[in-house]
Amino acid sequence: MNSNPKHTQFESFKYKTLRDLEIKVHELGLEIPISNDFEVLKQNINADNWIIPNRLSIQPMEGFDSNLNGSPGVLTYRRYERYAKGGAGLIWFEATAINKDCQSNPHQLMLSMENSKEFEDLVSNTREICNRTLNELGFKQKCVLILQLNHSGRYSVREGKKFPIRAYHNSELDNSRGLSVKDGIIITDNDLESLEDIWVQKALLAKEVGFDGVDIKSCHGYLIHELLSSRVRVNSIYGGESLDNRAKFFLNIIYKLKKELANNTDFLITTRMSLYDGIPYPNGFGVKNIVNEVFPASIDLSEPLELIKRLYNLGMRLINITVGNPHYKPHITRPFDIPTKGGNLPNEHPLYGVNRLIRLTSLIKQQIPEDIKIIGSGYSYLRQFAGNIIAGLIHENKVDICGFGRMALANPNFPKQIFQEGFIDKKQVCITCSKCSELMKIGNNVGCVSRDPQYQ
Ligand SMILES: Cc1cc2nc3c(=O)[nH]c(=O)nc-3n(C[C@H](O)[C@H](O)[C@H](O)COP(=O)(O)O)c2cc1C
Repeated sequence: MNSNPKHTQFESFKYKTLRDLEIKVHELGLEIPISNDFEVLKQNINADNWIIPNRLSIQPMEGFDSNLNGSPGVLTYRRYERYAKGGAGLIWFEATAINKDCQSNPHQLMLSMENSKEFEDLVSNTREICNRTLNELGFKQKCVLILQLNHSGRYSVREGKKFPIRAYHNSELDNSRGLSVKDGIIITDNDLESLEDIWVQKALLAKEVGFDGVDIKSCHGYLIHELLSSRVRVNSIYGGESLDNRAKFFLNIIYKLKKELANNTDFLITTRMSLYDGIPYPNGFGVKNIVNEVFPASIDLSEPLELIKRLYNLGMRLINITVGNPHYKPHITRPFDIPTKGGNLPNEHPLYGVNRLIRLTSLIKQQIPEDIKIIGSGYSYLRQFAGNIIAGLIHENKVDICGFGRMALANPNFPKQIFQEGFIDKKQVCITCSKCSELMKIGNNVGCVSRDPQYQ
């Protein structure tokens, strides 16, 4: 719980200069470093035998613009071409369903044998453009492309209707979404066991179509993340009090995938992980065991840390860190100025939210072996000054790579602008208006309503 009244007071972005922002950061007593040395952002970095050309990454952003067979559509190509022309060394492709039953939208990307050729085209097109851009910007290494594979779990949609495939009845989330016990299903142990193999097959297919690596998604309330908090799942080898059980599904997928790949080290296995979701115990992950706590639950990183240790022992060397479940309390994952239609302004200063992401990422980084590289997120709120903050973070070794989500939709050239000018063009920045999230919520093609004429 946060008791500092300045932290709980919402305020919109009103900083005209970097100095204004710096003054606010001090006033709030936050640890957001600022630097003018952008050279650090141009340094390459090794992760799991891979060299990532620079310290900027595109975060995964579901676009809901695939064809009905799950293959990339015209707007999917457009989005990735725009990202590829921007200059980030790492492009993390959006949540892609492992099968039809677990899509979050009929137009969510889904990888299958039938559409693998189309994915191959998307990957090679993106790679060609991205490498050309990196070369023009003077980077020597090639881009790295990762696919996020997901099961939407309680956020699955079938035939256009919500069909929650839950790990357990999470009372907090069920109540917040008006779900009754009769909606959808609680996934069985047998189904989970078969899904492990499907996930592995899809990861191998991702390799075949040309991705450099795969993200076994463990964040934002989707199936794997929900299993991590499934303490009240009864009579199951995948739930209950022990973390061994709750992490079994996730770790089994990685173990089986490693085994299939044998000694082949030319494919990166990674994950995007929510360290903390704010959901009070017993329904949350990364939260303290305090009964009857209300949102936001107190933070306890011991289980996320233990999980990262196990991933390390399985050979994982790159982790993309996030927090929250954006379907529940979106400001935890993406601090904003304006909520989605019908949403509330949080009782939190957005800079406090940015600071939470920065602080938790850095706390984790300090406690894990140096050869795991960490990607951070939640920087779009910082608008034209984001370059100064991420330069400060990398200087102080609080994170290794900085990923941007909403900014990439608003202004995919942000990496170029940071590398060349140090700041992002003020007239092109994301204004955190939540319109992209609103498009996602209603199931439309996702893009930036404020800056991209395609979506206006
Ligand atoms: C419209 C939209 C779609 C998103 N889709 C995904 C996704 O597919 N996978 C994922 O891990 N996160 C997804 N996110 C979260 C972003 O990757 C990112 O963590 C979040 O927006 C905070 O970063 P930012 O401040 O740079 O936007 C999405 C966010 C938005 C707004």
